[in-house]
Amino acid sequence: MKIISVINYKGGVGKTTVTANIAGELAARGKKVLLLDMDAQASLTFSFVSPDYWNNTLKDNHTIKSYFDNISQGYAPVSLSQLTIQPTNVNNYLRQIGSHGSIDLISSHLGLINVDLELATLLGGANMNQAKLNYLKVHGRLRESIESFASGRYDVVLIDCPPNFNIVTKNALIASDQILIPAKPDYLSTLGIDYLHRSVGQLTREFNQFAAMDQSVQHSNPMTLGVVFTMIQIYAGGPIGSQQQFISQTRRLSIPMFETYFRENKSIFASAPQDGIPVALQQYSNGTHSDVVNEITAFVNEFVIKAGI
Ligand SMILES: Nc1ncnc2c1ncn2[C@@H]1O[C@H](COP(=O)(O)OP(=O)(O)OP(=O)(O)O)[C@@H](O)[C@H]1O
Ligand SMILES: [Mg+2]
Repeated sequence: MKIISVINYKGGVGKTTVTANIAGELAARGKKVLLLDMDAQASLTFSFVSPDYWNNTLKDNHTIKSYFDNISQGYAPVSLSQLTIQPTNVNNYLRQIGSHGSIDLISSHLGLINVDLELATLLGGANMNQAKLNYLKVHGRLRESIESFASGRYDVVLIDCPPNFNIVTKNALIASDQILIPAKPDYLSTLGIDYLHRSVGQLTREFNQFAAMDQSVQHSNPMTLGVVFTMIQIYAGGPIGSQQQFISQTRRLSIPMFETYFRENKSIFASAPQDGIPVALQQYSNGTHSDVVNEITAFVNEFVIKAGI
């Protein structure tokens, strides 16, 4: 089982879309996928379940907020098995196409934004040792919880991270074996990639230094799978010149990169969440749609090799 965070500080670069489509394509190939939505915007959640269902059934006790609420109130966190659901539309669809794969989901909550503030109050301590132990408690629990619930049940756990570097995001990174960085090929995104990569390195160094104090805490060493470019505008079979320039610049950062990409297509990508079925799984009727789906398939081929799934 691989635990993979999909992350970028920058908002709106396609993290959630990439996460949902990897999940769809892997499940179509027979894999058991667990999705963990760690973003208070809950876009991944609403890509698989309706707002009504979330309101009536999940909101109060079945989201990742319940997990972090327990920690911030000083209790043992609830088991992730109690938070996990099987979204109906996508799993029915997978059955219809004859796949033995599945997509399970741990939903997010719009109130997750406040959880960070509550967790932050647990940091610090009467002395340095206590402060380090509190740091481990606040940042390091998710890995244990994912492993004890998901090992043996799932082939891959994909964590959709929010566009920030708060405590909840840090929990996801520390829990991860690997990270995937979706990015748009533009000036600010290119700057942000290098900074993100260095911040992840800094976080894990700090965590591992503190973890050395407590034998029961596993060290964290997430490997960067690479940058995948999204919203590529195609001209004459390749990215337009201005985007090509930023792709080349990113290549010089010496951070791994994917050769495959997601092209820009607002109408195809925008309508998928409402249907609860990722683009990768949809029946397509015209040339552009089939190009988009084929490119996602090619990306997932590369992803599977790089991630060793
Ligand atoms: N390849 C694409 N082509 C066109 N539109 C896209 C593409 N990928 C994503 N979008 C659209 O861009 C918007 C942002 O995408 P998405 O929610 O996946 O980004 P995000 O990085 O997860 O955002 P956030 O930082 O807010 O979580 C959405 O409206 C989505 O439908
Ligand atoms: Mg998102």
